[in-house]
Amino acid sequence: MLLHLLLLGLIFTLQIPASSAAIDSIAPGQGLVCGVSDKLVSLDGKFALGFFQPGSMSHNTLNWYLGIWFNKVPKITPVWVANRDDPITQPALVSFTISQDGNLVILDQATNSMIWSSRVSIRTNTTIGMLMNNGNLVLQNASNSSDILWQSFDHPTNTFLPGAKIGRDKVTGLTRRLVSKKNLIDPARGRYVYELVPNELILKLLNSSVAYWSSGEWNGQYFSSIPEMLSRSLIDFKFVNNTNEEYFTFTLLNDTMIMHHLLDVSGQMKTLIWDEVSQDWLGSYSNPKAQCDVYALCGPFTVCDDNSAPYCSCMKGFSIRSPEDWEQNDRSRGCMRNTPLNCGSNRSTAGVTDEFYSLSNVKLPQNADNIGAAISARECAEVCLRNCSCTAYSCTDSRCSIWHEELLNVKQQHADTTDTNDGAVLYLRLAAKEMQTQKPDRRVATRILSAAIVTALGLLALILLVLLLMIRGNNRDWSGGTLKNPQDGGGIIAFRYIDLQRATRNFSEKLGAGGFGSVFKAYLTDSATMAVKRLDGACQGEKQFRAEVTSVGVIQHINLVRLIGFCCEGERRLLAYEHMPNRSLDIHLFQDNNTVLNWCTRYKIALGVARGLAYLHESCQDLIIHCDIKPQNILLDTSFVAKIADFGMAKLIGRDFSRVLTTARGTAGYLAPEWISGVAITAKVDVYGYGMVLMEIISGRQNSFEQYTVGGDCVVFFPVHAAQMLLEGDVASLVDEKLSGDVNLEEAERLCKVACWCIQDDEFDRPTMGDVVRTLEGLSDLDTPPVPRLLQAITRRSSHPPSTYLSNESE
Ligand SMILES: *[C@@H]1O[C@H](CO)[C@@H](O)[C@H](O)[C@H]1NC(C)=O
Ligand SMILES: *[C@@H]1O[C@H](CO)[C@@H](O)[C@H](O)[C@H]1NC(C)=O
Ligand SMILES: *[C@@H]1O[C@H](CO)[C@@H](O)[C@H](O)[C@H]1NC(C)=O
Ligand SMILES: *[C@@H]1O[C@H](CO)[C@@H](O)[C@H](O)[C@H]1NC(C)=O
Ligand SMILES: *[C@@H]1O[C@H](CO)[C@@H](O)[C@H](O)[C@H]1NC(C)=O
Ligand SMILES: *[C@@H]1O[C@H](CO)[C@@H](O)[C@H](O)[C@H]1NC(C)=O
Ligand SMILES: *[C@@H]1O[C@H](CO)[C@@H](O)[C@H](O)[C@H]1NC(C)=O
Ligand SMILES: *[C@@H]1O[C@H](CO)[C@@H](O)[C@H](O)[C@H]1NC(C)=O
Repeated sequence: MLLHLLLLGLIFTLQIPASSAAIDSIAPGQGLVCGVSDKLVSLDGKFALGFFQPGSMSHNTLNWYLGIWFNKVPKITPVWVANRDDPITQPALVSFTISQDGNLVILDQATNSMIWSSRVSIRTNTTIGMLMNNGNLVLQNASNSSDILWQSFDHPTNTFLPGAKIGRDKVTGLTRRLVSKKNLIDPARGRYVYELVPNELILKLLNSSVAYWSSGEWNGQYFSSIPEMLSRSLIDFKFVNNTNEEYFTFTLLNDTMIMHHLLDVSGQMKTLIWDEVSQDWLGSYSNPKAQCDVYALCGPFTVCDDNSAPYCSCMKGFSIRSPEDWEQNDRSRGCMRNTPLNCGSNRSTAGVTDEFYSLSNVKLPQNADNIGAAISARECAEVCLRNCSCTAYSCTDSRCSIWHEELLNVKQQHADTTDTNDGAVLYLRLAAKEMQTQKPDRRVATRILSAAIVTALGLLALILLVLLLMIRGNNRDWSGGTLKNPQDGGGIIAFRYIDLQRATRNFSEKLGAGGFGSVFKAYLTDSATMAVKRLDGACQGEKQFRAEVTSVGVIQHINLVRLIGFCCEGERRLLAYEHMPNRSLDIHLFQDNNTVLNWCTRYKIALGVARGLAYLHESCQDLIIHCDIKPQNILLDTSFVAKIADFGMAKLIGRDFSRVLTTARGTAGYLAPEWISGVAITAKVDVYGYGMVLMEIISGRQNSFEQYTVGGDCVVFFPVHAAQMLLEGDVASLVDEKLSGDVNLEEAERLCKVACWCIQDDEFDRPTMGDVVRTLEGLSDLDTPPVPRLLQAITRRSSHPPSTYLSNESE
C-alpha cells in the first residue's frame, strides 16, 4: 500500500504539459499520463501524439496505445503506434516519459514494468523527445538537435507518411517496411507486408516470400507498373539507391493536403486523402486493384468474389470459424467444416462415402498435387476419395489435380469478363449428409455423387464441360504472380491542364462528342492511351468537384468504364477515362457494315450492360441513376466486353443535370415517359433506356429513325412491333437480317421479353436491373409482356417515331 502511494506520488511529480499550451517535446522528468487527454502537438499543429483507444462507437476495446494521429482530423486515425503488440490494459499508472537511460519509454508503475522502449544505447542521459511537423517522433541529443538517436520513421507501423522512407539502410541493416494491423480495432502486427526488395515495391504475406503484388522495377523515373507516378501534380516521388541506403519516399507539393498511404487490413495499399467537405477519408488509389488478388484474403475454405459485397463467403458445407474476427475484417481463419468427413470413421466401412460438390468457374487454389494426365474424371474422384486428407479435386484437360487439407485463394470468375478467363470447376469433398441437406442450386451443373451413380449421360456432360474449358484455354495455375500491366496501377489522378493538353496533342484527336462535352484521345506513354473528356457547362466549385470525382472514381466494375483521373483548374473541368479501342455499340450496330456483331457477342453485351447498371443501382453506397442509357454510351473493349460510360454525371455536373440532359439531347428515343410527365425520376428510367437499347441490339436498327414496314402500308415503331410479334410467337422475324439466321432463338425470345417488360409505360411494371440480370442468366423467367400501350397509341396516331411526338408534347 505504501509502495503504491509512493509510486502515485512519483507519477504526479512528472511535469505534465498542459494540452492547451500545445507542447511538441518532452524532456527528462516530463511525460504524458495514460487515460488523460494529454498530448504533444507538432509545432505546425498537424500531428498529435498521445494515448488512445482504438475502435468505433460500436466496437470499443478497453486497450490503450501510444500513437501519433492527424491533429486536425476529428476521426482519430493513428499513423504510428508505439506498443502495437503490447496493449495497455490497466491505464491507471501508465505514463510516457524519458527513462534514466535516456530512452523514450512507456512505464507501468503499478507493476514497475516497461511496456515499451525506444531501446537504443545512449551514452548520456540528456535527451529530448520531439514530435516533428512531418509526424516523426524523434529522440535527439539535448545538446545537439541534429544528432538523432532514434525516430519513429525508422519503425513504421502500417502507414507511410510523406517524408518517411520505405527501404533499407545498407550500413546498419535497418529495414523500414509496413505491416498491416491484425483487424479493424487491433493494431497488432497482422498478415500483410509492404516492403522494398531490390528495385521494386511488393506486397506479400508476413513470413512468406511470395509477392501478390509488385510495383514493377524502378526505371529511373517511375516503377514500371505505375506510370501514373509521372503525373506529379500532387506528389513528388523519389527513389534513392547509393552505397549507404536504398529507399523510396515521397513529398506533397501542396502541404495543406492531408494524406497518407496505408497498408489496410484487407491487404491493399491505399492512398487516403482527407476531405473537408464530407469530413471523411477518401480513397484515391489502391493496389492490388482487385480485392480478391490479395493472398488468402478470406482464409481457408472460402470463395472470394470481386463482384459481390462482402467479398468473402464460406464454401458450401462450411461456416465462419471466428465470427468476431470476421466481423473486424480479419478473415485469416476462414471457414470450418460443418459435418466431419465420413472418411476414416467407422461409418465408411458401412458403405457411406463422401461426395463432391462442384464450384464452377473458379480460379483454382494453388499447391495442387498433380496426379497425372489422361485420367478420367471418375478416376480422379476416386484418387481423392482414397486419401482422407484430400479435400478437393479438379479434372481439366483430362489432367487430374487433388488438394490436401486447406483450400486457399479460390476466386470466383465471371463468365463474361474477358476471353482470358481461366475459370475451372473445383469439386469439393463433403460428407454425404451435407449433400442431402443441399437445397436445389442451379450452380450445381455437374455433380459426382459416387462412382456407381455416374451415368453415361453424366460423363458426356462432363466431357462437354472439359471441352468447353479447353476451348476457353489459358488455364493458368495460380502463381501469386506480379501484376505488370500498367493499366492495373489504378486510382484517381489529379492531372495538370498542361499535361492533358500535351497528352491530347492540344485536343487534336477527337473521339466523339456527347451531351456533356467532347472526348479526345490522349497518349500517356507511347503505348498507353486514355480518353479525355472536356466538360462543358460544369458549374461545380472546385472542392465539390474534387469530392465528386473521388466518389465516382471508387465506383468500379468490369462493365463500367474506369475513371483514371481529372483536371480541375480555374473554370476547366476534365475527366480522363480508360480508352476503349472498339468504340461504342452504335457504330457496330448501325454504321460499320464490315463487322457484324455475332449473336453470342450481342447477348454478352446485353448481359454486361445489365450487370453494370445493376451494380450502379444496387451495389453502390448511394444509388446512381445513369439517366442517359443509349448505344453511344456503351463502349466496347478489345474483347468486346461492354462498358458503360458517362455514369455519375449528375454528381459531376451538379444540380441542373436533368435540364442539361433534356435540352442537350437530340433524340428522345430512350427517354422514359416519366421524363416528360414530370414525376420523380427513379432507377426505372435506366431500365426503360436499357429496354430500348435491347430492341436495337436485336434488330440492328435504330428505334427512333427507322420505321418498320410490315406488309403494305402499315407502319409501326419497331419496339411495338416486337411486342406484337412476341405475342404471336414469331421472334425469328425480329432478329437482325445481317446475322443471316445465325441466332439462338431461345435467347432471342428471352431478350425480346426482357426488352418489352423494360419499356412498359408504368415504371412499376418494369423489372429491376437485378431481375434483368437473373433472367438473362437463365436463373428466372418472365411472363409474356403486354404491348406497351402508350407507345402503341403514339404510333397509331402518328407515322413518326415517338421521339418527335414526345418532344412536341413536352413543350
Ligand atoms: C543523468 O546521469 C547522471 C549520472 O549518471 C545522474 O547524476 C543524473 O541524475 C541523471 N539525470 C537524469 C535526468 O536522469
Ligand atoms: C550529445 O552531443 C554532445 C555534444 O555534441 C556530445 O558530447 C555527446 O556525446 C552527445 N551524446 C550522445 C548520446 O551522442
Ligand atoms: C551534432 O550532431 C551531428 C550529427 O551527429 C554531427 O555531425 C555534429 O558534428 C554535431 N555537432 C556538434 C557540435 O557536436
Ligand atoms: C542499386 O544499387 C545496387 C548496388 O549498389 C545495384 O546492384 C542495383 O542494381 C541498384 N538498383 C537500381 C535500381 O539502380
Ligand atoms: C512470423 O514469424 C515470427 C518470428 O519468426 C513469428 O513470431 C510470427 O508469429 C510469424 N507470423 C505469422 C503470421 O506467421
Ligand atoms: C494548396 O491547396 C490549397 C487548398 O486546396 C490552395 O488554397 C493553395 O493555394 C494551394 N497551394 C499551393 C502552393 O498550390
Ligand atoms: C470404430 O470401431 C472400432 C472397432 O471396430 C472401435 O473400437 C471404435 O470405438 C469405433 N470408433 C467410432 C468413432 O465409432
Ligand atoms: C494422403 O496424402 C498425403 C499427402 O500427399 C500423404 O502424405 C499421405 O501419405 C496420404 N495417405 C495415404 C493413406 O495415402
